[in-house]
Amino acid sequence: MPAAGDQTHFGRRTVRLDEKQGLVNDVFHSVASRYDLMNDLMSFGLHRIWKDILVAKVRPSLSRPFSHVDVAGGTGDIAKRVANAGGPLTEVTVVDINGDMLRMGERRLGRCPYANRLKFIEGDAEALPLPDARFDAYTIAFGIRNVPRIEDALKEAHRVLKRGGHFLCLEFSRVDLPVMDRLYDAYSFAAIPAIGQVVTGDGAAYRYLVESIRKFPPPERFADMIVAAGFARVDFTRLSGGVVAIHSAWKL
Ligand SMILES: C[S@@+](CC[C@H](N)C(=O)[O-])C[C@H]1O[C@@H](n2cnc3c(N)ncnc32)[C@H](O)[C@@H]1O
Repeated sequence: MPAAGDQTHFGRRTVRLDEKQGLVNDVFHSVASRYDLMNDLMSFGLHRIWKDILVAKVRPSLSRPFSHVDVAGGTGDIAKRVANAGGPLTEVTVVDINGDMLRMGERRLGRCPYANRLKFIEGDAEALPLPDARFDAYTIAFGIRNVPRIEDALKEAHRVLKRGGHFLCLEFSRVDLPVMDRLYDAYSFAAIPAIGQVVTGDGAAYRYLVESIRKFPPPERFADMIVAAGFARVDFTRLSGGVVAIHSAWKL
């Protein structure tokens, strides 16, 4: 367990481990109201397809009770897909550390037909305010690289899942195709902060997002971290030339 004085990354900067969460929270407070629009602009709508692929792997039951938790769930993009894909006994809990992001989600999804099957809870992925062995599936999409102590978040995912429960993580990864990697870098570092500046007034927030992607461990190393948290049958799938990867694992 790292001491509070240990260091980590906040984008390109090296910061104290106990300082990072506050900096991450400032980013998402600043962009919350335009977060969904920015996702569409930055990814040319691709984030919708990646999220659909993630939720297709969840496969919530159409007839039996199914408890799902989406951590770092932000404005509820994954939660709405799981609730929509599952049956009337599928319930989804969204946990996020940032109340502004959750409120955007509650406002957006408050009137959808499955609103009564969604619950929004403010909480930290590193110390989930949830009971042991409660959920059939756990997702975290574009969230884990923002969490200061990734190992703690993975242990918490394992704790709250039932035996036989499914862990799924969608995260930016490493582009591994020649030429495309250089185009991707140029687009990320030049265009995304500029678009962020125009749309949200906070280009620095989007510079952090781009830089944090480069600091996140490569998929092979992240898979080892998932194994170390106690999960079995750990594997990953790269999508869109490695722009993102979906990690899958089971609590057996
Ligand atoms: C890039 S957004 C992803 C939101 C959503 N999952 C999506 O795919 O659109 C990252 C989210 O992680 C949340 N977050 C950051 N650190 C967290 C933590 N320690 N625990 C829970 N949520 C956290 C942020 O507040 C933010 O809503």
